[in-house]
Amino acid sequence: MKNLDLLLHHPPSPLQTVEHEVFSERGLQLLVKRDDLLHPHVSGNKWRKLKHNLLEAQRLGLTRLVTFGGAYSNHLVAVAAAGLAFGFDTVGVVSGEPSSRGNTTLSFAKECRMDLVFTSRANMRDKPGPELLQLLGIETADALVLPQGGANCLALPGCRELVEETVAQLGHAPDYFIVPCGTGATLAGMHTGLSGSCQALGVAVLKGGFLQNEVEKLLAACGDKPTSNWKVLDSYHFGGYAKWTPELIGFINDFKEKTGIPLDPIYTGKAFFAAVDLAEKGFFPEGTSIVLVHTGGLQGIAGFNERFGNIVS
Ligand SMILES: Cc1ncc(COP(=O)(O)O)c(C=O)c1O
Repeated sequence: MKNLDLLLHHPPSPLQTVEHEVFSERGLQLLVKRDDLLHPHVSGNKWRKLKHNLLEAQRLGLTRLVTFGGAYSNHLVAVAAAGLAFGFDTVGVVSGEPSSRGNTTLSFAKECRMDLVFTSRANMRDKPGPELLQLLGIETADALVLPQGGANCLALPGCRELVEETVAQLGHAPDYFIVPCGTGATLAGMHTGLSGSCQALGVAVLKGGFLQNEVEKLLAACGDKPTSNWKVLDSYHFGGYAKWTPELIGFINDFKEKTGIPLDPIYTGKAFFAAVDLAEKGFFPEGTSIVLVHTGGLQGIAGFNERFGNIVS
C-alpha cells in the first residue's frame, strides 16, 4: 500500500466566484466549489466520500476495495483510480446490458486494473451487499466493501470537510450550498458541517421523492441528528436518473460557454439548472451568497455522448 498522506494533506479545491447574469442582476453572489479539480479521476464528491474509507482500510491493513455500480458509474471509476493511486487491488461488481461492457467508463476502470464482475440488474437490486458477493464467489476477508455510490458512514466526515473548507475560504458560512443528490450521502455529510443560518439544498437526480427520507435514515444510522437547515428538492430530476431534455443539454452547454465550467448531464447539470431556476423565480433574497458544489462526474460525459450523439460540449 502506498502512502495516503496526499489524502490527508491535499490542498483545498478552488472556490471560484462566477459571473452569471441571472445572479448578478438580482444582487446574488454565486460561487462554485470546484471539487471536480481535486483529482483527475477520483474527482468531486468521490474524493470526499472515499477519503476516510481509504484511511480506515489502511488502518485495518486491508488490501482490496470491493464495490458495486452501473455501467457508467462515476463511483466505480473513482474506486478503480483510487486503488491504482493508493495501492489497493479493486473489484467492481457491475450491472448493465452486455452491450455496455466496452464503454469508456468500464474500459477506464479496467485500465486501472479493476477486476470487473458482471451481474444482472435484478441481482444488484434484490441482493445488494454480502449476499451478492457470496453468490458471485468474491472473497472479502481482506477487503473493504463499499456500497453503491460509496454511501456509508465513513463517507460523511469527508463531505463535512467540504463545508468546513468552504467556510474557511470564504471567511464565513454562505447562505446556501446547493449539491446534486443521488444516494444522499454527500448532502448528509455536508449537513453535519452546517452552522448558523447556512442552508443546504440537495437536488434529487432521481425521481420518486424518497431522498429526504434516505438522508434522514443515513444520518440516523450514522448517529447524527438531522436538523432543519437542509432539504431535498424533488422537481429537477428531468424524468429520472440519467433522463434528460434538450432544455437541460442547452443549459449545460450555455453554462460552459458563459463561465468556462463544464457540467455533466447526470448530476451537476441538474443541480446547477435548479440553482439558476430558483434564482430566476426569486427564491433567494438580494444579497444571498450561494455556493454550488461541483461534484465532478465529468467522465460521464463521454459515455453520455456515446449513447446520445455528441450533444454535450
Ligand atoms: C458527479 C456526482 N455528483 C453527485 C453525486 C451524488 O452524490 P450522493 O450519492 O452522495 O448523493 C454523485 C454520485 O455519487 C456523482 O457521481
